[in-house]
Amino acid sequence: MNTVSEEKTAAEPAEPVEILAIESSCDETAAAVVRNGREVLSNIISSQIDLHTLYGGVVPEIASRKHIEKLNPVVEQALKVADRRIEDMDAIAVTAGPGLVGALLVGVAGAKAIAWAAQKPLIGVHHIEGHICANYIEHPDLKPPYLGLVVSGGHTHLFIAEAPTRFRILGRSVDDAAGEAFDKVARAIGLGYPGGPKIDRLSKEGNDRAIVFPKAHVNGSEYDFSFSGLKSAVLNYLNHAAMIGETVNRADLAASFQKAVVDVLCEHTVTAAKANHLTQVAMAGGVSANSTLRAAMEKACREAGLELMVPSPVYCTDNAAMIGAAAYYEYCEGHFSDWSLNAVPNLRLGERL
Ligand code: KG4
Ligand code: ZN
Repeated sequence: MNTVSEEKTAAEPAEPVEILAIESSCDETAAAVVRNGREVLSNIISSQIDLHTLYGGVVPEIASRKHIEKLNPVVEQALKVADRRIEDMDAIAVTAGPGLVGALLVGVAGAKAIAWAAQKPLIGVHHIEGHICANYIEHPDLKPPYLGLVVSGGHTHLFIAEAPTRFRILGRSVDDAAGEAFDKVARAIGLGYPGGPKIDRLSKEGNDRAIVFPKAHVNGSEYDFSFSGLKSAVLNYLNHAAMIGETVNRADLAASFQKAVVDVLCEHTVTAAKANHLTQVAMAGGVSANSTLRAAMEKACREAGLELMVPSPVYCTDNAAMIGAAAYYEYCEGHFSDWSLNAVPNLRLGERL
């Protein structure tokens, strides 16, 4: 028996819906024009990574200032590439949370000003919901209910998508998010920021069985994750090697750490999908760009008879096309924001704006 009932989603409008979407929750200023939640007419991303790399991580104050500088040019570029005017848009969507409060405020204030001036409806979007909906862009076959895994810099959630914008959480990280663990371990072995892609690359030269790190399970909690113990095990390994004067093989360490993360993500995902009799699995978020995770999840799902959907890497990390995709489903449900829309830095998955 299926534990989740098939639910009809709100009717999709007969006329095409085109949405200008804005994303500024962390260190990317992005704007996109998306048609019917799937067709990306433009997807402009201005990354601040080079700037924050100098400091070894995102500096919130610098991020906010850069968003102010970049927001208007990025929006103009998104409309130009899509060959649209603001008057052509059916709504203006913006990430309202979770994220860095100052960074979010720039996008929210900008979107409100544009929507007010152009007299367009405003849609506040949940950033994590955006990551999940990135899957609709390239996977027209993805239909709720499905099993979802979001792995980003700030969040690790295993959930059932009961409808395009309704999620039931099964498990989450009880401490560090998966991406945070990648970034912290990368810093500890001197790879710098952002750590995920660097560990991904270095791991290809290493042996993932060289060091056995603890699995990121939580005792007594089948679907939760704990990555801080794993991060501490890596730090202890480095300290011990330094004490006895041993040189650490960084590629082996990166590959072994990555394997410990990937293994637990795959195990929990497959177990949860089977237990809930779901046949489709959708993965999303920055860490889902990881090449080893993508290959391992593909293999684990294939062996379990599950169909896996993952966005192309450009839609895994922060972008505005995913916000436009999520906004389309909010539009279909009639969920619009009023002028009191504000940034909500700690917005939880499933919590409405
Ligand atoms: O989703 P995202 O762009 O921003 C948040 O919403 O947090 O995720 C950023 C996180 C960072 O921790 C980054 O290191 C990680 O995603 N990441 C990766 C890879 N690319 C980005 N982690 C592992 N392997 C990658 N290839
Ligand atoms: Zn994100």
